Amino acid sequence: MLNVIAIGEVLIDFTPAGRTSGGNEQFECNPGGAPANVAAALSRLGAGSALIGKVGEDQFGSLLRDALLSSGVDVAGVSVTNEASTTLAFVHLDDQGDRSFSFFRKPGADTLLHSKDIPLDRIETCQALHFGSLSMTHEPARTATKTAVLKAKEAGVLLSFDPNIRFALWESKEEAKQYILWGMRHADILKISEEELYFITGSSDVEKGSLELQQQYDIALIVVTLAEKGCYYRLAGQDGYVRGFRVKPIDTTGAGDAFLGCLLYKILETGRSLDDLTDQQIIGMLTFANAGGAIVTTRKGALGSMPTIHEINRMIESNKPYEEERFRPGFHFTPPDHWANDPNGLVYYEGAYHLFYQHHPYGNQWGPMHWGHAVSEDLVRWEHAPIALFPDEHGAIFSGCCVVDWNNSSGLFENSHGLVAIFTHADTNPETGQPRQRQSLAYSDDKGQTWHKYDGNPVLAEDDLIDFRDPKVFWHSPSERWVMVIVAGDRARFYGSENLREWSFTGEFGSGEGSHDGVWECPDLFELPIDDTGRSKWVLIISIGDNPSCPEGSRTQYFIGEFDGNTFINDNPADHIMWLDYGRDNYAGVTWSDIPEQDGRRVIIGWMSNWKYANETPTGSWRGAMTLPRALSLTDKDGNVVLTQMPVREIERLRRESKSWKDVAVTPEVPFIQKTNEDLLEIEAVMDVRSGDEVQLVMKSSGQSEIIIGYDPVRQWLFIDRSKSGLIDFHPSFASRHGASLVAADSEIKLHIWLDRNAVEVYADNGLVAMTDQIFPDAPIESIKISAKSGQIILNSLQIHTLESIHQSGERSGHTSGRKDA
Ligand code: FRU
Repeated sequence: MLNVIAIGEVLIDFTPAGRTSGGNEQFECNPGGAPANVAAALSRLGAGSALIGKVGEDQFGSLLRDALLSSGVDVAGVSVTNEASTTLAFVHLDDQGDRSFSFFRKPGADTLLHSKDIPLDRIETCQALHFGSLSMTHEPARTATKTAVLKAKEAGVLLSFDPNIRFALWESKEEAKQYILWGMRHADILKISEEELYFITGSSDVEKGSLELQQQYDIALIVVTLAEKGCYYRLAGQDGYVRGFRVKPIDTTGAGDAFLGCLLYKILETGRSLDDLTDQQIIGMLTFANAGGAIVTTRKGALGSMPTIHEINRMIESNKPYEEERFRPGFHFTPPDHWANDPNGLVYYEGAYHLFYQHHPYGNQWGPMHWGHAVSEDLVRWEHAPIALFPDEHGAIFSGCCVVDWNNSSGLFENSHGLVAIFTHADTNPETGQPRQRQSLAYSDDKGQTWHKYDGNPVLAEDDLIDFRDPKVFWHSPSERWVMVIVAGDRARFYGSENLREWSFTGEFGSGEGSHDGVWECPDLFELPIDDTGRSKWVLIISIGDNPSCPEGSRTQYFIGEFDGNTFINDNPADHIMWLDYGRDNYAGVTWSDIPEQDGRRVIIGWMSNWKYANETPTGSWRGAMTLPRALSLTDKDGNVVLTQMPVREIERLRRESKSWKDVAVTPEVPFIQKTNEDLLEIEAVMDVRSGDEVQLVMKSSGQSEIIIGYDPVRQWLFIDRSKSGLIDFHPSFASRHGASLVAADSEIKLHIWLDRNAVEVYADNGLVAMTDQIFPDAPIESIKISAKSGQIILNSLQIHTLESIHQSGERSGHTSGRKDA
């Protein structure tokens, strides 16, 4: 957990709250004080934060302690005095929500903070110390603050400083300047307003003024806040402006503190030193901080108004320009920003589905892998959570899984249960210079909120194997141990363990079996019942990487057979290949662990892209989405056991309006056409194809794009044609027509289609065939047309549902205006 200490004033802000019926001015009693606000902002984001300060032995003092405690701030360092009252500030707001202050602090308890109140041992071990100038206006707090800062400096702790000038609290402006300059001399991070910069440097040019300060005081990062315009930053060799967010402010108190709390949070989250931050990283962090600051101004008060990560991400998403967001799906999962590939660590635990994913949080192409994280109660609406796993001394965090260690077999949970992630650490072997992939553990005892890497990492290494990755672990009751299936180039290997920490090899499968068009990746292994026969089979899922000579790119196959506790035994001949999906964009799919038995479902989700072109898709501020989560079943189809899949039933909750038709005859002259001004759609069609030629369902945009789903009864072939689907030329393999064989039983085919802004998913015959494709239409879809090439098709039944978006803020402005502009 991140660990930040703030030192300084904690006080009550009395904010105007209208007038009494008798006409007297009323004030609201809001806990505040800049350092206290920064600590509250950090703990609201999920970081560990503590305050060092002093309150009076009075009602206001206990109110402040309570407010800090309920914001999650550690108050062990907040001492109490009976020598002065708790400091009070009366805030006067003008029409813009801007403030002036009158202080009741002659003296106030906060100025009585003494050096002996400072827990120096805690300062030495924290990650950052934040301070301001107001705890240096009077002794003994002045010396106490300086003592804390000097200790932190000596221990190499990151120092953040906000001058936060209030002239009324200083003897003179000269004295204020003297101590502010002292603060700057010690700061690594300086947050300063335009007025403050002017006061210190005499320059109203933020670029010049900040350059002067940086050169004079050697401050690694200077951020000048520019109110609603955002901020300007200067970081060794880089500088620039970061746009703010337009909101309707009602009280700007605490905005700068929220900004700083958010910035510190993001800086510490990366685990990098300030000098190593790239331009892109610092811009991302400051965007986050700008959003945090903007949110606080929309609420009264400060300490209790700090934003959550979710609120900030929502604000960022809803303010992105149209071009960056037009392909952001309405009901498929996407990362808040930047790159995502494989789903990882899928686990259900204590009421929540967790989705981790391969994530490069600072770039839109594959890069140093982290585990992004999101949580959902229904597999449909996801809340973004902080990044769960960061690269470390053993390398990047590649794919893997999570299990619930119910019986603490790992010994990591002190008589309780918790989550264990088993993943691949990827780095370079220092001896051979070759890539190295080893398996490691991380665990969480707070329902996945915070993660600790296991001290004994890596737990499984095979020196001879270069490709050795993507472990999937499950509890195997018959042998009473954990089983790991993992891939090694052209095969799957199996290991067993009693405690998740020590693994022994038990068998392998796959060399010469199934498809080897690419390297084997992302395995999964589970047992499923066959229809309701009472019998069951084991399913082994294997994704295979891109091969430049295969137009299909990366895709996923599966095997049906038995698992004897040691290895997998294929039921089918070695050359029998079964594909999970016949579209181009469903890869690295794995299933959720620990879905309760009463539910009983086996739910899979895949990465909705293809290594062939994944790094080039024209998505915008993010790149990489997940497929819909799908429930898997086994069915006996003419003597062959095969997988079927359908999106989980929870998706139905997104339906808004439904229209249905029955027994509609469609001919080349009289096609079925339905106009729509909605671009999130679900279509269910049952069609009699006995007297027609090829039938086509065409989803046409208001521009030139067409996405065609067709069925050729002669070839018995179901296909998607995305060759005119909009943006296609980012890669030569993207524009294509591809499909699967499908026999129309009784001349009837049954299609179930989900259309999102960036994808189409097609299921035929209750999920016997699935096809998932990305699309990038030039404009939103405007009509659905069903037509026959010749003869007549009967639409036995047709339903079109409009769907609502999973983004709780409703539709982003970009999409709405996009539709009008189109
Ligand atoms: C599959 C994969 C995995 C690997 C991960 C790296 O898409 O190549 O084998 O662990 O992606 O991001």
